[in-house]
Amino acid sequence: MPAPAQFVEFVDTHADKFIQRLADAVAIPSVSGEAGRREDVVKMAHWLNGQLNSLGVTTELRDLGKHVMDGQELSLPPAILGRMGDDPKKKTILIYGHFDVQPAFKSDGWDTEPFKLVIDSKTGRLIGRGSTDDKGPIMGWLNVLETHKSLGLELPVNLRFCFEGMEESGSEGLDDLIVSETKKGKEGWFDGVDCVCISDNYWLNDRTPCLTYGLRGLSYFKIVVQGPARDLHSGMFGRAVHEPMTDLIALMSKLVTPDGKILVPGVDEMVPAADDEEKKIYNSLDYSIADVEDAVGGKIAISADKATVLMGRMRMPSLSLHGIEGAFYGAGAKTVIPAKVSGKFSIRLVPPQTPDKINPLVVKYLESEFAKLNSKNQLSVECLHGGKPWVADIKHWNYEAAIKATQAVYKKQPDLTREGGSIPVTLTFAESLGVNVLLLPMGRGDDGAHSTNEKLDRSNYIEGTKLLGTYLYEAAAISA
Ligand code: BES
Ligand code: MN
Ligand code: MN
Repeated sequence: MPAPAQFVEFVDTHADKFIQRLADAVAIPSVSGEAGRREDVVKMAHWLNGQLNSLGVTTELRDLGKHVMDGQELSLPPAILGRMGDDPKKKTILIYGHFDVQPAFKSDGWDTEPFKLVIDSKTGRLIGRGSTDDKGPIMGWLNVLETHKSLGLELPVNLRFCFEGMEESGSEGLDDLIVSETKKGKEGWFDGVDCVCISDNYWLNDRTPCLTYGLRGLSYFKIVVQGPARDLHSGMFGRAVHEPMTDLIALMSKLVTPDGKILVPGVDEMVPAADDEEKKIYNSLDYSIADVEDAVGGKIAISADKATVLMGRMRMPSLSLHGIEGAFYGAGAKTVIPAKVSGKFSIRLVPPQTPDKINPLVVKYLESEFAKLNSKNQLSVECLHGGKPWVADIKHWNYEAAIKATQAVYKKQPDLTREGGSIPVTLTFAESLGVNVLLLPMGRGDDGAHSTNEKLDRSNYIEGTKLLGTYLYEAAAISA
C-alpha cells in the first residue's frame, strides 16, 4: 500500500514551508560537545518538543542528570520521549533521532555562516550545520506529521519517539533511559513497539538510495604524557630531560600503519576474514573508487580494489588518530617543550568486538610500549566514550517495507549497506526491546556531515520526507 497521492502532493506543494522549518532548527546552535553551547542544546530540545506537541504528539522531557565535560560539571540536555496513536490494530514504530550537532565555526573554512541555513538555488543545496546530521531527517518526520494533520489523514501506524541531544558526545545517559523504560513494561514509553526506524546516515554515493543494516561501534581514547611541572625552553632543557611530546609521538606511531593495519595485538585478529561470498556483496554495491575520492576531495583511496575499500569502511575495525591537546600549534616558531600533552585516537569496532573486549588490549599494549621507551615521564590512558557495533537481520519485514517505500519514491532498488560510523544507542534498542532496527537515510554520501559546508540536497529533503511517510504505509500494510 503506497502512501496516498494527496500526501505526496502536499509535501511537494509545501516544500518551501518545510525548508523554513529546517532553517529554524539549524539556527539553534545545539552543539553538545561544547560546554558553552549547552544552553542551546536545551533550547533545541524545547523547540522540538513544542513542534511535536503542536503536531499532536504527547511528550515528556526526560532529565538525564549531570556529567563532567572538560573538567566542568554540566547538566545533560533532556531527552524527548513521545507517543502518537494507540490503536491496537496498528503496528507501533519507534523513531529515533538526535537534535545535537557537531561544532562549527566559519573560520574552520565554511563559505557561509554555519548556523544560518543557506539555500543555494543553483545547486539545490541546503547548507548549514545539522542539515543532514541529523536535523534534516528529524524535520522530515515532523513534515510527515504536519502533512497528515493538515489533510486530516490518519497515520497508518502508532508512533513512538525518542530524540536525544547528546549523540555527538557519546549518547550519555540514554542507554539507562532505554533500559529502564523497557523494564517498566506496560507503563513504559516503549511498550508495544514492533520495530525501530532511525534516519541518521547517508547514501553510499550521490545517486542511489540505500538501507543500512550495520554500524560500527567505537572506543575513544585519550593518552596523557606528562613530566615537567611547567612548559620548558628547549634551549635550556632539550636533550637534558625526557620530553612528553616525543614520548607521545612515539606511542601514537605504534597504533596503526599508513595502510590501516591496527598494530594493537588482538584487535584485527578478532574479526574473521570475509569469504568470497561476502566479498560479492561489496562488489555489487553501486560504488567506485571515484566515489570515495570525490567524497574526500583527493585521490587517496587506500586500495584500487572497490571491495577492499568498502570492507575497510563497513566490516573491518579502523583506528584513527584525531589530535594532540597541549601541543604548540600556532603560527611562528616557538621553541617550547610542552609540559603535558594528550593524544586522542579512536577505534571503530565491528562484531564481535565491544569496548569491554577491546579497551583492556589497548591499555595493556600502550603500557608495554611506553615501558620500552625507558622514559621517566608519566603515562595515563583514559577511555572517553564507547559504543557497541550493530548488525541487523535484513530479511525482516521492516526492511521489506523500506525497500518498497524506496521503490515507490525513487523508482530504484536501494543498496543494502553497512556503515562505518556509530550511533551508540542502536544496539541498545535492538537488544533491550528485542525488535528489528532499520536505518533509513535521507542524505547523500557527499553531504559532509561533521565537515565544513555540511549540506542536504533539497531533493533529498523533500523526497526523503516522502520516503519516511511512505515507509510508514508500507510497514502498516505488511503482514508481520
Ligand atoms: N550520523 C552519525 C553516524 C554515522 C556516521 C552514520 C557516518 C553513518 C555514517 C552520528 O551522528 C555520528 O556522528 N556518530 C558519532 C558517534 C560517536 C560520537 C560515538 C560517530 O560516528 O563519530
Ligand atoms: Mn548523526
Ligand atoms: Mn554525527
